[in-house]
Amino acid sequence: MMRPMKLAGDYIVFGEGALDYLEQIEGKKAIIVMNGRVLKTNGILDTIQEKLKKAGIESTVFDGIEPEPSIQTVLRGAKAMLDYQPDWIIALGGGSAMDAAKAMWVYYEHPELKTLADICKPNKIPKLRGKARMICIPSTSGTASEVSRSIVISDKENNIKQGIGDMEMMPDIALLEPKVTASMPPKITAETGFDALTHAIEAYVSRRADDLTDTLSEKAILEIFKYLPLAYEHGDNLHYREKMLNFSMIAGLAFTNCSLGIVHSIAHSFGAVFNVSHGLANGVVLPYVIRFNEQSEYAKKKYDGLAERIDKESLYEALVELKRQLNIPETMQEVLKDDEAFEKNLQLVAEKSVEDGCTKTSPVIPDLETMKNLIREVYYGK
Ligand SMILES: [Fe+2]
Repeated sequence: MMRPMKLAGDYIVFGEGALDYLEQIEGKKAIIVMNGRVLKTNGILDTIQEKLKKAGIESTVFDGIEPEPSIQTVLRGAKAMLDYQPDWIIALGGGSAMDAAKAMWVYYEHPELKTLADICKPNKIPKLRGKARMICIPSTSGTASEVSRSIVISDKENNIKQGIGDMEMMPDIALLEPKVTASMPPKITAETGFDALTHAIEAYVSRRADDLTDTLSEKAILEIFKYLPLAYEHGDNLHYREKMLNFSMIAGLAFTNCSLGIVHSIAHSFGAVFNVSHGLANGVVLPYVIRFNEQSEYAKKKYDGLAERIDKESLYEALVELKRQLNIPETMQEVLKDDEAFEKNLQLVAEKSVEDGCTKTSPVIPDLETMKNLIREVYYGK
């Protein structure tokens, strides 16, 4: 079968000193879309603005992107861009800053778009790059939004959380500077790291996996198993930070082309219904789905191959152990602590999970009843 692929935008720049790349870009004005006070106080923002200045580019900052970026914030950002007229949009931060900046870019280029529905199916993302190009500088090692075509935007007024994917939104340049991620506290390192690991494992057994995505995701899994605990323990070690940043991105190259599976479907649903953060939800759910997927010969064979390479009894056992080591709760009950609310919303969480876009590429596709049982296991543990 013919398979077209797009791995990233024009350039991926990585390694210590990656920010120097900013000194050689051409343009007039940049807007930096960001979240996180630390990036202001630790000098990262100043460094970025100085390097832009060396390139002859003036810059302004749009700060205060909330964790689950809303369309209201996106439209405010687009308005700031329309006023400032940047030819570069630079996202600095975790997944929410990058997702918000990508969405702002769409509304900035096309002011005729006014609502979240305007960019959701059946509507298409229109052509971008008429006004600006985009750079992502991730401050976490997890979402891989810097090399993905996807965004998640919520509409708090209407209680909607929407995932949107289109190659048009692939950032032009990803700058992976390990120093930028060094300020992550251990808890965020663990949760975003589990997001990256989940991307790699789900891509590896996706129904759309191929030789290229397998090569990327397999290596990413093995290296994340090695470096995530080290980055968690020694957050100021830039070598460990660099490895996590690189392999999170490499997992992103894989999943943006072959999609994910039901760990993400269930994590998205717990995120939408109970506001559980994405990385944490993935970390809690992951081993349960691995055990569930073992009924597929295709998945089991790949899992066993991985376990052998990391010298563990099984991938399931390895993940349970890694979760303990990184203080990720074993069950969703420990996270939510509200059995009544869980039982009341179980049907909804299961329905959303079955309908989620990631379900169709999972190795075993559960029906609603099976999904409910699986989610019960995730909550109560078994
Ligand atoms: Fe994810």
